[in-house]
Amino acid sequence: MASEKFARSASIGVFDSGLGGLSVLQHIRQTLPHEALIYVADSGFAPYGDKTSAEILERSIAVTDFLLSKHIKALVVACNTATAAAISHLRLHYPDLIIVGMEPGLKPASLLSKTKKVGVLATLSTIQSEKYQGLRAQLSADTGVEFIAQACIGLVDQIEKVEANTDQTRLLLKKYLNPLLAANVDTLVLGCTHYPFVASLVQELTSAHIPHGEPIKLIDTGKPVASRIQRLLVERDLTTSDSDIPRINVYTNGNPEKLKYACTQWIKIPEEKLSISTFSA
Ligand code: DGL
Repeated sequence: MASEKFARSASIGVFDSGLGGLSVLQHIRQTLPHEALIYVADSGFAPYGDKTSAEILERSIAVTDFLLSKHIKALVVACNTATAAAISHLRLHYPDLIIVGMEPGLKPASLLSKTKKVGVLATLSTIQSEKYQGLRAQLSADTGVEFIAQACIGLVDQIEKVEANTDQTRLLLKKYLNPLLAANVDTLVLGCTHYPFVASLVQELTSAHIPHGEPIKLIDTGKPVASRIQRLLVERDLTTSDSDIPRINVYTNGNPEKLKYACTQWIKIPEEKLSISTFSA
């Protein structure tokens, strides 16, 4: 039986501090092509990674309330930083809503690593969060893997400028990757949803480093999150049977041109399937 509070035809709401969550949206779109999707880029307040937990929580509530005003049936917090700072609060305050968050993929990385050394690229706020520290300590104890965290300050700003492959981005990434390579990591967790948009640059910059005869492996959790939201919707009988492929509604309080570029060029949403608006929550 479909949940009475939510309509099957309602949208799935997805948000991030900016463009990063589009890396998750693309997996949701592939997994659930018939679902209506609303994406909010809180770019006016990006980056979240150098803000306090209280500030990130405030933004997460404001954006969630905006999405709820659009009658969503499920929420994806497509941001590791906002998940760490706000998901417990959101779950407490919206107990009937399906809420799925992001978590750096330490577990899959621990299963793949042969050197037992895993690099974790994330925001400062994620790395300092209790949620991350708890996960790291538990998995280290269980698996013997050493997780070496690297806060990539400035990288989100580069991606927000849609400068995913410029000299400045390259220099920044080199600075963050070199200590991890020197520590002999063989697996890198992309612990921020913006980072999949520099994955090919990370691959290029690490290509000379071949521990155990294999290139460095990158872990992105966008796909498992899309599968999880699908499972939860099926469990509550909330998937839509509409055969049309709906338009994707995207909102920003930043630069709509940059959002349009990222949607059409990075995740290849056809322009006619995209509707871009601004919001001021
Ligand atoms: N994309 C985000 C994350 O997954 C937030 C980055 C930021 O705004 O600093 O952590």
